[in-house]
Amino acid sequence: MGGGITSTLEDLEADIIAQCWARSCAQKFIVITGCSIGGLGFETARVLAKYGAEVVVCCRTQEACDLAVEELRSFVAPHMIHGFVLNLASFRSIQQCAESILALNRPIHILINNAATKEVSVQVTEDGFELQWQVNYLGPFYFTNLLLPMLVQGGMTSHDGRSARVVNLSSIMQYVYCSDKGLNFEHLLQAVEPTCDSNCGSGSGGSDINDEDTTQRIRSGSSLSPSASSSKGKRSSIGSKNALRWYADSKLAVILWSKELSRLMNNSDEPDNAPPVIAMSVHPGISPSTNAYRSMTYTALAQTVGLVMVKIRSTVFLTEKHKSIPLAAATTVYCALNGRVVAGEYYADCKISDLVNDSVKNDPEAGKKLWEVSMQQIDYRLQCIMAEDLALRQGTS
Ligand SMILES: NC(=O)c1ccc[n+]([C@@H]2O[C@H](COP(=O)([O-])OP(=O)(O)OC[C@H]3O[C@@H](n4cnc5c(N)ncnc54)[C@H](OP(=O)(O)O)[C@@H]3O)[C@@H](O)[C@H]2O)c1
Repeated sequence: MGGGITSTLEDLEADIIAQCWARSCAQKFIVITGCSIGGLGFETARVLAKYGAEVVVCCRTQEACDLAVEELRSFVAPHMIHGFVLNLASFRSIQQCAESILALNRPIHILINNAATKEVSVQVTEDGFELQWQVNYLGPFYFTNLLLPMLVQGGMTSHDGRSARVVNLSSIMQYVYCSDKGLNFEHLLQAVEPTCDSNCGSGSGGSDINDEDTTQRIRSGSSLSPSASSSKGKRSSIGSKNALRWYADSKLAVILWSKELSRLMNNSDEPDNAPPVIAMSVHPGISPSTNAYRSMTYTALAQTVGLVMVKIRSTVFLTEKHKSIPLAAATTVYCALNGRVVAGEYYADCKISDLVNDSVKNDPEAGKKLWEVSMQQIDYRLQCIMAEDLALRQGTS
């Protein structure tokens, strides 16, 4: 890439970026989440498909999936586009989607975790986690881990010798709204509602991850068997009732996770070998034309702005130049295709940005702690799912 283009990259639309790196795009097998028409995910899928990638679009509903696939197949060969339903608010859906993708038996070269939700009230998923935490961070973390074997294969077999990439959508909100201390791991350890009412524990009530005993066991890393969980009856333990806080925290988690995934994949014993997988996080810019903003009521928008206004860094958010969808999809496409991106970094305007929460710079252990907590959260829920399935089988046999 010539130096001339570099100085104006932030003004280039996703289509031009993909055109610049079209050779890296062709023959790649790319999975993208959150691809409903009208959002950044669909635009990303559109340009990557246009420049020769085989694309799997994942959408929350079958209807959105059908529409996205139909639209994309209208201009590329139909076999180059696949569509699967992925509801990140459901571990079962995540498992099913990952299984369907793995069943294609194709090495994955690029995974773009674009899907996210922004809510004005705290809600709890069927898995017992705060909705934004699960959809924006924990779900993509789990989904990526399920796809990791095929990502590793993608990194080891790509025609251009490049590492496979995971591009994770974050947001400037992690800089503007999160506590300077970063994520509250105590809070996260407790941020789960009981989900196996009748099938876990003694069967007399919900297992409560908020009780002292359970929290201690998570903290000590010992296994969280649902049958070992106490059953003191169901009570809300979801923690903060500030929905914007959950959104911002989920987007900070995305940055820490991208760094940690890159670190874990880097085999420092052999520095000459490219790691099989690298991950970057991205702030796409503020793009009020996407569905996220279209579906927001005036009151919800005013509430968000009101909450942000009291923050010292609010000017960063309030003065940021708004972007069209093609411009806002550009940094994601850049991180997916550019040969010189730096593993683990946070990008905005097609360059590394230092507008990150202090903990990203100052707490080298934060990514590791987050990884552990995330695995424990997932492990807890998976054991509940196993117990639910067992009870169902016993009930029907
Ligand atoms: N636009 C901005 O100003 C801005 C700023 C900073 C960061 N971002 C980030 O950029 C990414 C794309 O956002 P966008 O602006 O394009 O928003 P969008 O149009 O609302 O797109 C979000 C996508 O995520 C999907 N999604 C929501 N809940 C889901 C779930 N439970 N399971 C699976 N998919 C789900 C949506 O599906 P449905 O359409 O079916 O709901 C949609 O396809 C997000 O990660 C967002 O946080 C955007």
